[in-house]
Amino acid sequence: MSDMKQIAILGAGTVGSSWASLFVAHGLSVRFFDAHEQTQSEAWKHIRANAAFLAKEGLADSSDYERGINALAAASSIEELVCDADFIQESVTESYDVKKAILGPTSEASRPDAIIASSSSGLLMTEVQKAIKHPERSVIAHPFNPPHLVPLVELVPGEQTSEQTVQAARVFFESIGKVPVVLNKEVPGHIANRLSAALWREAIDLVASGVASVEEVDKALHAGPGLRWAILGQHMIYHLGGGEGGYLNFIDHIGSTFSEYWKTMPTWTEIPEEVKEQIVRGVVEAQGERTLAEVSQWRDDKLVKLVKAVYGE
Ligand SMILES: NC(=O)c1ccc[n+]([C@@H]2O[C@H](COP(=O)([O-])OP(=O)(O)OC[C@H]3O[C@@H](n4cnc5c(N)ncnc54)[C@H](O)[C@@H]3O)[C@@H](O)[C@H]2O)c1
Repeated sequence: MSDMKQIAILGAGTVGSSWASLFVAHGLSVRFFDAHEQTQSEAWKHIRANAAFLAKEGLADSSDYERGINALAAASSIEELVCDADFIQESVTESYDVKKAILGPTSEASRPDAIIASSSSGLLMTEVQKAIKHPERSVIAHPFNPPHLVPLVELVPGEQTSEQTVQAARVFFESIGKVPVVLNKEVPGHIANRLSAALWREAIDLVASGVASVEEVDKALHAGPGLRWAILGQHMIYHLGGGEGGYLNFIDHIGSTFSEYWKTMPTWTEIPEEVKEQIVRGVVEAQGERTLAEVSQWRDDKLVKLVKAVYGE
């Protein structure tokens, strides 16, 4: 059982407010702070709505939700935010400069044993923790958006992170229903975003080279492999794909056909300027008459059903 009770949300934008909603819905005492005044005031609305959604959908216990919502508070300074925090979830802008500038004073103002977890999508904790006092208590805890619904959290230690910190973070996240994955060593983009980056480059290239439209490429993902990916990863999928001989059979007999695909795939490392307009136009067409808020709500309604089907009782 985790003993994290007082949670500090540093940065309450897209990801910070979603994290806050999850913690609130699980009855934890949450305080949040964002440097941008409008984001700070809008966070109330987002956190309340998302936490209520989790309770309504049965993804959080109603008495936990009531306790969490009654304890929710905004802080007006870093000191007020972290003075008594057990766990600090940082979700400020993705930049070494921004994160290091705020995590220095945050670590000074917090208890030396409070865990400092960064939502960073791809920065290295070894670099970020250079600015942190007692760096052994800092770790990357990277969610997948939106963190209040998608179970994955990637835990990535930096060179100075202690094993105790990784374990405490793992126990904490498991206690609120997250699915932590612990990396042995750092790499830009961790696991899930590296996999996404490889796939995204190919998804762009398929459109740019005229193979299919944005809508068709996306459909080929969500109606096919995406359904399997909700329950199995690539290695196990191909182990099953190999029949009686399993993964080795798949590698020896089908793997070589993949070599032909790999030979024709792009290797660029900057999105080509000329395809930007094409893919943006394509996705706007796919959005159609729906507002972004409507598409997000539709996504969340479907995600809830998937999460319940795969991770429910
Ligand atoms: N958006 C995603 O899909 C996603 C998914 C997983 C992780 N992340 C990571 O989460 C972090 C936040 O991303 P986001 O998408 O929520 O960005 P965002 O722009 O929505 O929110 C960042 C917030 O940080 C605030 N901020 C910046 N400097 C601050 C400071 N010194 N003190 C307090 N608040 C400050 C900004 O005002 C802003 O509201 C990034 O590290 C990002 O890599 C994002």
